[in-house]
Amino acid sequence: MKQKAFILGRGIFAQAIVPQVKKSYEILGFLNDAKDFTNGYPKIGNYNVYPLEKVKDMQYDKIIFGMGDRSNGFVDRLTIQLGVDTKKIDYNFLNIKNKVFALFKKLKNNPKDIFYRMRIKVINRYARSSFANKKYNKQGYNQISNQTAFDRYPAIFGFMKSTVKFDGIKILSFGCSTGEECFSIRKYFEKSKIAGYDISEANIAKARQKNKDSAIQFFNDLNKAGSEYDIVFAMDVLCRWPVLKCKEDSSDIYSFEQFNKSIELLDNHVKQNGYLVIFNANYCFTDTEVAKKYEPVTIPHFLTSGEHTKFSSNNRVLENQNYEYSVFKKVTEPRTAGRI
Ligand SMILES: C[S@@+](CC[C@H](N)C(=O)[O-])C[C@H]1O[C@@H](n2cnc3c(N)ncnc32)[C@H](O)[C@@H]1O
Repeated sequence: MKQKAFILGRGIFAQAIVPQVKKSYEILGFLNDAKDFTNGYPKIGNYNVYPLEKVKDMQYDKIIFGMGDRSNGFVDRLTIQLGVDTKKIDYNFLNIKNKVFALFKKLKNNPKDIFYRMRIKVINRYARSSFANKKYNKQGYNQISNQTAFDRYPAIFGFMKSTVKFDGIKILSFGCSTGEECFSIRKYFEKSKIAGYDISEANIAKARQKNKDSAIQFFNDLNKAGSEYDIVFAMDVLCRWPVLKCKEDSSDIYSFEQFNKSIELLDNHVKQNGYLVIFNANYCFTDTEVAKKYEPVTIPHFLTSGEHTKFSSNNRVLENQNYEYSVFKKVTEPRTAGRI
């Protein structure tokens, strides 16, 4: 008998993986945000779309991740609010999603064909971001989008609070965008000094405008932010989303070399016995040389480092997309400071 699975999401990605998921699981339906289920559950093909809360009422073996990224907080809501065991969330089909997109690109032009129309929708989205990608490529950017939100990573922030055990420390948010990450960290570390750094002057100007906390400072020049941080967060920065979502090779867009340069820079700001926290990156930190100075720390029941497609140090998409580490403790002497 096949195991039972929900598919998380209801959009183009969720629908694209149905044929593959069906081979191994009995699909129970799609899970989506509870918008309006007052007139019953909407249908996509043969399957119902359920609100996330449905996981409490139905027996299932897996929840298959079928979404573009986790910035909307669905996974956090499932795990933290609804008590879903993270081991039950399966990210393996993301790789199939990449292959499906590669197939879309090869389809012949036939405006009557549903797949052709889906393809146009997908390609248009990527075209917009490819354009943005070229525009910023030379300016030392990692992630281009400045999308952010308040308390975007509660499981990680909460874990760091319980791991470090004391307040009054120095924390850096690298790629802080318009400041929400720093304001969120304050919720967990009430007495700590928090610095936010972003490459975008406009983001820093907005963050400064919003800031009413004298122990939070924003910088557009990392040299001015100082070093010796107890925790450095690099959340959703060391990546190119969504352009790398459907690529087999990352070298032209955001290479391992670029990632590695940022890692070397970040390392200069982490003090000994301090922590580097990397979430939603396109590469595995443990593939870098710098990682030899660090030990991965496992967050109990949180076995993911994000949903962005992972590539090898040779810039090829990884067959196994599961990479559970996001927290790393620095265990040897730091090197002398330097910049990219
Ligand atoms: C998607 S936002 C992430 C914001 C926040 N960390 C979060 O997760 O909500 C990515 C941010 O990284 C910034 N960024 C990209 N490359 C950077 C670099 N080399 N140095 C500092 N910031 C960078 C961008 O300007 C953007 O504001």
